[in-house]
Amino acid sequence: MKRVDDFRLKFGDKEYVPIMIGGMGVDISTTELALEAARLGGIGHISDAMVEDVSDRKFDTTFVKDKTKLYKHNINNMDKSEVQFDLGRLAEAQRRHIGDTMQRKEGPGLIFVNCMEKLTMNGPKETLRTRLNAALDAGIDGITLSAGLHFGSFALMADHPRFREAKLGIIVSSVRALQIFLRKNQKLNRLPDYVIVEGPLAGGHLGFGLEDWKEFDLHQIVQEILDYMKAENLDVPVIAAGGVFTGSDAVSFLEMGAAGVQVATRFTVTKECGLPDDVKQEYFKATEDDVIVNGISPTGYPMRMLKSTPAIGAGIRPGCESYGYLLDATGNCAYINSYNREVVANGGSDKGIKVMDKTCLCTHMRNFNCWTCGHYTYRLKDTSFKKPDGSYQLLTAEHVFKDYQFSTDNSIALPEKEF
Ligand SMILES: Cc1cc2nc3c(=O)[nH]c(=O)nc-3n(C[C@H](O)[C@H](O)[C@H](O)COP(=O)(O)O)c2cc1C
Repeated sequence: MKRVDDFRLKFGDKEYVPIMIGGMGVDISTTELALEAARLGGIGHISDAMVEDVSDRKFDTTFVKDKTKLYKHNINNMDKSEVQFDLGRLAEAQRRHIGDTMQRKEGPGLIFVNCMEKLTMNGPKETLRTRLNAALDAGIDGITLSAGLHFGSFALMADHPRFREAKLGIIVSSVRALQIFLRKNQKLNRLPDYVIVEGPLAGGHLGFGLEDWKEFDLHQIVQEILDYMKAENLDVPVIAAGGVFTGSDAVSFLEMGAAGVQVATRFTVTKECGLPDDVKQEYFKATEDDVIVNGISPTGYPMRMLKSTPAIGAGIRPGCESYGYLLDATGNCAYINSYNREVVANGGSDKGIKVMDKTCLCTHMRNFNCWTCGHYTYRLKDTSFKKPDGSYQLLTAEHVFKDYQFSTDNSIALPEKEF
């Protein structure tokens, strides 16, 4: 019986353990988590979601405070079009976060950054261009373009000296999205270095409909993409993501011809993961019924999360002066509309209102109050021990990584007991 370690992910003449830890914003996939993946010979992701806030927390910078101060006069105004990001400051935050991570990297693996393109930041093209180029400046090994794939993103960094050297990948959920991306980028004469195929059981935002996600199957989509690559004579590694819970699940994709797997949920209960410890316990305790897919993300994409997530129904004032990562090109966010509707219905006051259909994702992700998770979160309790006080023992990233790498027979190795 094969195990993941019998396979290698190849980029040119370099080989890696075919395990990628997926990007989890906001700073859930921390530098520490990504460093472990690289040390163990795989690929780790950090995320650049809300990078100014991440920089403030990591380096005591004051990006968020300064932006709030600058736009304080606008806090009660629901027209947010004037609330712009300063591109120089954005680049600085990105370079700090990524530069620090890359400086600390050790071992044979790689570190990539996950760039969610749905973070339109009241200036989609300019802010994305800034993020991508600053990431390359700071020496990132690779960039994964995700959520809201912008077909013109490669062009935004085409003039950067590292454009053909860094690994650039995309996340797609269908062969059609891949085809469109390749067609739109033909002129650049630069293929993606890898394609992550994310199925319907993943955490975070989903590339499927709110109702129809259940009808899709990752094995089938991966097969379609492998067939397409073969038919087009394309030699691009395909990485399967979403619901790969055991080493044997991973092997089932590697045996089909996938070059690797991207995994995330099992790492949410590791010590290196950025979620607060009490939230990690919520993930451990979750039952199958607790994991839901809903439409509260203002991005318009369905999102999977725990039913008890505090972000559901919270009627807080939009925090765009401080954050504003989801403001579209015209300075609007779907949460603002929902919030306004409830304020009007409440006679003009936001006291005690509940906003059920959308959430202020920036503020809640920033405060770890939106508990997004993969479908199999309810199996996390089988990956550790329950302590006498009812809490679960946290894992190490190394333990989970090696379990994926070496386990067979769908088994899950338990950690060494710490109590
Ligand atoms: C807590 C959490 C946060 C996530 N955040 C992001 C994100 O910011 N960007 C993204 O592209 N994918 C995100 N994902 C998706 C993962 O990177 C990954 O592709 C997917 O969850 C893999 O499936 P698994 O969780 O079943 O292992 C997130 C997943 C989780 C569990």
